Amino acid sequence: MRVLVSGGAGYIGSHTVLSLIEAGHDVLVVDDFSNSKPTVMARVESLTGAHVPVHAFDLTDVDKTERLFATEQIDAVIHFAGLKAVGESVAKPLEYYANNLGSTFALVNAMRHHDVRRLVFSSSATVYGDNAPVPYHEDYQPLSASSPYGRTKVMQEQVLSDVAAADGLKVALLRYFNPVGAHRSGTMGEDPQGIPNNLMPFIAQVAVGRREKLAIFGDDYPTADGTCERDYIHVEDLAAGHVAALEHLDAMTEPVRAFNLGGGTGTSVLELFRAFERAVGHELPYEIAGRRAGDLPAYWADTARAAEELGWRATRTIDDMCADTWRWQSANPQGYPEG
Ligand code: UFG
Repeated sequence: MRVLVSGGAGYIGSHTVLSLIEAGHDVLVVDDFSNSKPTVMARVESLTGAHVPVHAFDLTDVDKTERLFATEQIDAVIHFAGLKAVGESVAKPLEYYANNLGSTFALVNAMRHHDVRRLVFSSSATVYGDNAPVPYHEDYQPLSASSPYGRTKVMQEQVLSDVAAADGLKVALLRYFNPVGAHRSGTMGEDPQGIPNNLMPFIAQVAVGRREKLAIFGDDYPTADGTCERDYIHVEDLAAGHVAALEHLDAMTEPVRAFNLGGGTGTSVLELFRAFERAVGHELPYEIAGRRAGDLPAYWADTARAAEELGWRATRTIDDMCADTWRWQSANPQGYPEG
């Protein structure tokens, strides 16, 4: 298939572009580089030997989005592009609603006008809200979220479900748990701008000397060691999940289907931190700090549906995730170079 990847220069997007090419698909990327650097595409090209055409614009620009579909042959879309920082979304809700919903409207409208019927959408476990039983199952209702960012994901899932039912689209909603890790080559990985919001890139920056120490947000949760448990998934496993979902769309009997992409077990903050110390080969500094507002104690995925219907499961371990992150971070202490 010829696959348009929106947000293809981002962390998960770029690893998925790589997996798509390795699986024999043709890829083109649209990305506005608001949270990524163009040099990531050179890394993808040198790992695959393929040329990846890149269109640099914001998908909320309806005219440019329409023109892209008018001039390129596109068989399917994987839609990653969007704003994704939970805290920032609380401070700038309108930006999040306008950007995340606006880009989806423009994209799906252009797909309808040009008869493109396959869509894989980048969603999040955040749509399960605060009260879903663990492990999270795809059929859980009602979906909800506790941040404007999360609510844009709930709303986009709803919009896409309605459009799929009305217009004959096939849509896979992929609910990610906690993506971490880096390409095994050490040449591609997560490159957050500014102070990292998420645990793994923060630990990696402590290890490489960019941050003084990790602050662990709370050790008094009702978990085995008192720190929060999450379902970490290696970004290469996650990328493979997108290829599996894309290739499954035509066989789907319903217009829309949600799939959890996670590993199916919880790992605590302290366990992940200790695993990272093993990868680096020495101890790292940390302190116990207060709880972060909005954090849930523990959750992980029910992975049965993805295994049965997509034939996909995560295979890489926590130690793989830490070793690959460290390979990337130590070889690229400042992330991707400016292009
Ligand atoms: N944590 C720390 N110190 C840090 C950063 C994180 O202790 O410096 C802890 C958090 O408190 C949490 C765990 O590490 O217990 C994981 O935190 P992340 O920020 O890495 O990930 P979250 O589970 O909070 O966030 C994920 C996704 C979001 C999504 C959110 C809500 O990254 O996209 O879940 O479901 F919105």
